[in-house]
Amino acid sequence: MRRLEGRVAIIAGGATGIGAACAERLVAEGCRVVIGDLNIDEARNLCAKLGDNTHAIHYDAADEGSIKQMVDGAVSHFGRLDILHNNVALTSYEVNVQDTTVVDIPLTIWRQVFEVNVTSFLLGSRFAIPHMIAAGGGSIINTSSGSGRLGDLVRTAYGVSKAAVISLTQHIATQYGADNIRCNAITPGVIMTKNMEIVAADLSQIIKPHVLTPRLGKPEDIAAMVAFLASDDSAYVTGQALACDGGMQAHQPQIVDVRRFEAQQGAGVPK
Ligand SMILES: NC(=O)c1ccc[n+]([C@@H]2O[C@H](COP(=O)([O-])OP(=O)(O)OC[C@H]3O[C@@H](n4cnc5c(N)ncnc54)[C@H](O)[C@@H]3O)[C@@H](O)[C@H]2O)c1
Repeated sequence: MRRLEGRVAIIAGGATGIGAACAERLVAEGCRVVIGDLNIDEARNLCAKLGDNTHAIHYDAADEGSIKQMVDGAVSHFGRLDILHNNVALTSYEVNVQDTTVVDIPLTIWRQVFEVNVTSFLLGSRFAIPHMIAAGGGSIINTSSGSGRLGDLVRTAYGVSKAAVISLTQHIATQYGADNIRCNAITPGVIMTKNMEIVAADLSQIIKPHVLTPRLGKPEDIAAMVAFLASDDSAYVTGQALACDGGMQAHQPQIVDVRRFEAQQGAGVPK
């Protein structure tokens, strides 16, 4: 399918993982894609792989001026802007281990996470919306997380920041719908990027019994949703937070315990 012929997208935080898969899918759909990332080497490598319809821009999601330069740079390179995928997040090990509980999390980490995971989405949208209005409308897609919907033992800032992304999504959809700008969020479950394969091999064993599908998520699963939300196939979809998580949050939370209990009772494991 080439649903995005003639359109221009920015993927903010697009050099690796989910963002890279999204870039590949949007290009396959006929879109011209700017890949914004702090990791400019990976962004350039990806552009070299995906071809002339891509352009890498170095940006830092913690720096307002840098976000504006990325958005304006995309418009001056490709001449318009139709799609903004806010995908960046602070995913580094150093931040994750300090993102602990409400009592213990250092405020510097809380603020750092919010700066990148939430404020950069606000600013990217702020700078993109006038260009989208000039182009006749647009689609903003925000990567949230299943972590934004449920409490957790740790990673307080990450979870709360992803909940804020859902609310920001609804506010953008409400305020700019009349300008033909749609805004939706995706809440991925566990998505096995190369990085996740390395850091979360054990985690995936814990998660697997809670997922209803036979396999865990792939970056391409999110890319397919991004392509749908970017295209006119989703023309009447806005202000939504759509889960792509293999049904992980669709069932009674105790099903894994029920299966284990029934197995212990010799009743066999229900499918
Ligand atoms: N992988 C999962 O299981 C999963 C699950 C739920 C949500 N998500 C969300 O999906 C998105 C992508 O995650 P991913 O797993 O592909 O991670 P990733 O680490 O591969 O991608 C994040 C990208 O953001 C870039 N980045 C980090 N800090 C930056 C900054 N300050 N300025 C500019 N770029 C910066 C990184 O260089 C990287 O390319 C994130 O929003 C994440 O929270 C991922």
